[in-house]
Amino acid sequence: MQNTTDFIVEPGGLLVGRLRVPGDKSISHRSIMLGSLAEGVTRVTGFLEGEDSLATLRAFRAMAVEIEGPEQGRVTIHGVGMHGLRQPEGPLDLGNSGTSMRLLAGLLAGQGFEVTLTGDESLSSRPMRRVTEPLTRMGARIETTPAGTAPLHIHPVETLHGIDYEMPVASAQVKSAILLAGLYAEGETCVTEPAPTRDHTERMLRGFGYPVQRNGSRVCLTGGGRLGACDIDVPADISSAAFFLVGASIAPGSELVLEHVGINPTRDGVITILRLMGADIEVSNERDVGGEPVADLRVRHAPLKGIRIPEELVPLAIDEFPALFVAAACAEGETVLTGAAELRVKESDRIQVMADGLRVLGIEAEPTPDGIRIVGGRLGGGEVLSHGDHRIAMAFAMAGLRAAGTIRIKDCANVNTSFPGFARLAQEAGLRLEVTHG
Ligand code: S3P
Repeated sequence: MQNTTDFIVEPGGLLVGRLRVPGDKSISHRSIMLGSLAEGVTRVTGFLEGEDSLATLRAFRAMAVEIEGPEQGRVTIHGVGMHGLRQPEGPLDLGNSGTSMRLLAGLLAGQGFEVTLTGDESLSSRPMRRVTEPLTRMGARIETTPAGTAPLHIHPVETLHGIDYEMPVASAQVKSAILLAGLYAEGETCVTEPAPTRDHTERMLRGFGYPVQRNGSRVCLTGGGRLGACDIDVPADISSAAFFLVGASIAPGSELVLEHVGINPTRDGVITILRLMGADIEVSNERDVGGEPVADLRVRHAPLKGIRIPEELVPLAIDEFPALFVAAACAEGETVLTGAAELRVKESDRIQVMADGLRVLGIEAEPTPDGIRIVGGRLGGGEVLSHGDHRIAMAFAMAGLRAAGTIRIKDCANVNTSFPGFARLAQEAGLRLEVTHG
């Protein structure tokens, strides 16, 4: 992907209207993975046609799964059963997508063929031992670089065996990798999480008819079962909605309705945190869509105040902090985040990169090893670097609504990994955003 796309945001404006942001990234990945391993045909609607979930889709095509689409969010997967994947001809390139790489490491550990997983520069610098270490304990043979990063070379093994794993980090990707390997393992595989993390894998496994037991923070399944195809309606991604929740909250006169948003309780930390800051967010029309809670969100401008973010909310809002930092920059007083060291190993070091950008815009932002302190103030204009991180780019785009000058955001092509069509949707709602391709 060429990284010469910049966003230029003229100051001011407000957000109004009704809109539906694209499908949930986490659920889209999992729909391809489980649909491919199921017996029968899985029909997906609302699939995210972003680069990350497309990387997963291409990987399964390369392993001989017939997949039709995506066409306007519709994907049809002709499942090959638990043992129907075939060795791909070359390495599987997973681009920028950490979810693809970590979940596939687990899913492919017990397949009986050799396979290599590669990614772009950002993905190739992210920690992979967090998955290869527990998978090795299950009997997998996976090589990383000496630094514990991709490429991952997965070698065939005779059998995997279940483990009882206490996760050192609160990571849904690690939990999911182990559970997916557990489908192929002898006996029971259990994962205990130090704090609740997104549970889409468990929900979707059950939707495909695979028994999963949860007891408090411990989740278990037994290998050797089968998945039965089912239909999946992917809700709009709350992580994409988050930029609009923040944008409308900070821009006077704004009122937006975000439709059909997934509000899974392991993902709704952004709503809780914004409300603690004083945001006006109404949740209505709550319903269940294929085992995932969905609702419409109405957000109106409201004056925000700085808060100390409760640490237990961190995993429930882990992808929303770039947007929340912009909210903090527009709030009255100081916002303090702790217990969020994970932000340093996302698509970029989100603590440092956000602090650098906010300082360019004249905001006092002090990074700490596991968080940040931000003092709300007057946002100016300037040039900020997204470091190719989609969520940094979109967060700073929303900052334009309250800036006193033009903000130029460098390196925004990766917005397409999670939110294709962001620029147009944001323009339609009222953001004074222009995209330049250099
Ligand atoms: C994801 C889990 C989270 C999140 C990522 C998607 C998933 O990562 O940051 O964008 O789909 O399981 P961690 O589980 O590593 O925190």
